[in-house]
Amino acid sequence: EKNGYDHFMLKEIFEQPTALRKTMTGRLDQEAKRVDFEELQWSPETIQQWNKITIVACGTAYHAGLIGKHVIEELTRIPVDVEVASEFRYRRPIIDEKTLVIVVSQSGETADTLAAMRQSQRLGANVLAITNVVGSSIAREADEVILTMAGPEIAVASTKAYTTQVLSFYLLGLYLAESKQTVTEQKYKQLIESIIELPEKIEGMLEHSQGIRWYSDSIKDAKSVFFLGRGLDHAVALEGSLKLKEISYIHSEAYAAGELKHGTLALIEEGTPVIALITQDEVSEKMLGNVKEVKARGAQVLGVAEEGNLDIWEYVDETCYIPNTPSILTPLLTVIPLQLIAYYTSLALGNDVDKPRNLAKSVTVE
Ligand code: F6R
Repeated sequence: EKNGYDHFMLKEIFEQPTALRKTMTGRLDQEAKRVDFEELQWSPETIQQWNKITIVACGTAYHAGLIGKHVIEELTRIPVDVEVASEFRYRRPIIDEKTLVIVVSQSGETADTLAAMRQSQRLGANVLAITNVVGSSIAREADEVILTMAGPEIAVASTKAYTTQVLSFYLLGLYLAESKQTVTEQKYKQLIESIIELPEKIEGMLEHSQGIRWYSDSIKDAKSVFFLGRGLDHAVALEGSLKLKEISYIHSEAYAAGELKHGTLALIEEGTPVIALITQDEVSEKMLGNVKEVKARGAQVLGVAEEGNLDIWEYVDETCYIPNTPSILTPLLTVIPLQLIAYYTSLALGNDVDKPRNLAKSVTVE
């Protein structure tokens, strides 16, 4: 049931704060400020022996994996690869007993992801599944399982499944980092405190969800929309772009902003909408340089940045602010306006938001 919402997608966007709290339940002790996964059977020795982690998934789950890579590498210094399952399964991937393979799948039934998991197990890797569906094929066959606890996701365009997958990666990263002692106690606690605050921050953002509607109206007739970002913002840009094209059918691309010069700039014309994600402090100067480049070709730029970042005003045409949080955690906030932009654009175009053409919720054929 839609519970008073016009579409499942909107309902699921609004369910995110609750879903994220459920993901935390039993894993994040808010008093002690510790992460623990009782469901994981690894010993410290097992964790210690991994020299590589490979994340395998499709679509939005793959995009969550891209965030997972940044987070796990940052917190544990274990090298992490991320690959789409349909590629992984048809090459000879280099993995063995010293590899942890993480498969990410909302449905737990995606054919390519399931095949990639079985192949990894044959090669001797330990497989952890991050999935939303108890009793799904992937949940049953994986060696270890983290259930995202998002609740049923009905809309084809994934929203709360994605954010709970991303949160699972934060918690997993902290869990592994504590075991490997690759993070200071201070940073560990500080991140946990900030994670606890995220659901409330998202609630605050959703209270103003209508505030982004004008933007969707402004891009609904565009030929193409570009999403730019660096680092974690690039991973979120990919997800924002997928969401938009999936349900609005507007062509869209996401680019690592530094790649613009290598071809993409030719596609920016007078009036091309560009959504520039500028939340990563270490590269924000570089991003502003890229914004200048697209502005010089006539782009119409919406800058997404943290509250209080007034520097962007002189560069962008419009701003969309997200609440403050450590740079590593911004994806969970930045993706919210991007989900809403996709939703309202699809709505403005009169599309079937929950059931976009040519797509199935669960891809059980390859
Ligand atoms: C996009 C979307 C798809 C899925 C992909 C994987 O909004 O929902 O890209 O993410 O088909 O599905 P799961 O996670 O069920 O393996």
